[in-house]
Amino acid sequence: MAQIIAIANQKGGVGKTTTAVNLAASLAVLKKRVLLVDMDSQGNATMGSGVQKNDLLYSVTDVLLGEVPIETAIAKSEVGYKVLGSNRDLAGVELAIAEQDGREFILRDALKEVESSFDYIIVDCAPSLSLITVNALSAVQGVLIPMQCEYYALEGLADLTQTIDRIQQALNPELEIIGVLRTMYDARSALTKDVSEELSQYFGKKLYDTVIPRNIRLAEAPAHGLPIIYFEKSSKGAVAYLNLAAEMLKKSKVKKGSKA
Ligand SMILES: Nc1ncnc2c1ncn2[C@@H]1O[C@H](COP(=O)(O)OP(=O)(O)O)[C@@H](O)[C@H]1O
Ligand SMILES: [Mg+2]
Repeated sequence: MAQIIAIANQKGGVGKTTTAVNLAASLAVLKKRVLLVDMDSQGNATMGSGVQKNDLLYSVTDVLLGEVPIETAIAKSEVGYKVLGSNRDLAGVELAIAEQDGREFILRDALKEVESSFDYIIVDCAPSLSLITVNALSAVQGVLIPMQCEYYALEGLADLTQTIDRIQQALNPELEIIGVLRTMYDARSALTKDVSEELSQYFGKKLYDTVIPRNIRLAEAPAHGLPIIYFEKSSKGAVAYLNLAAEMLKKSKVKKGSKA
């Protein structure tokens, strides 16, 4: 069964989509079967995977509206993993499903139909806590939180962990934070070090050892519709995301081992 992970943070611009795309690509390079689900109407994860958001035959919107089976809506891609894409149509879904019974669980139930075909399902979330994001957080086992090591990152932290607790209690008992990732990391900055230290105290082992450096190639790759590993595989950004994928695989092995 797939491990299903949301990439979430209520703040925008912290590296959620960059992480979703590049983690998906790195896990695929490490021979894992991966599905990337774009739950943001901006469609950046879709475009960043080389799938044209405005040419989609079907998107995650059709799945949430119950119009097509999820298998049908999964788009072809050339980046080593599959993509359930999105575009601005997703913005209209919220109202359409608002009154529906079980409206929080539509994505969860759809993913059940395909989870045996994948090792990892990565769900990229929008920054808002909309019903769309609630669908994402109800469908996953774990949340990966990307964070920029800046002063305001700590401010939003309590909100974020509270949201996750609330969803865990009301909708998804298995939901947990599986890891916190430092993004756009600048090792020379004193502030980065201070914030990093606080994150480490707050999250302990959940803070990934891997950090993602600020790397211009990571910002350029989406314009080419390519994950960094296909854009410039020797760049610091590509190496960092591969390391993250390897660290995740190692941690999930240790966890499985400890359960057995
Ligand atoms: N490690 C990084 N180095 C440089 N630029 C980055 C890095 N991570 C993300 N970016 C850039 O920062 C902006 C915000 O990142 P994005 O992943 O879209 O954040 P979010 O999905 O949280 O809004 C984008 O322009 C992206 O290309
Ligand atoms: Mg995003």
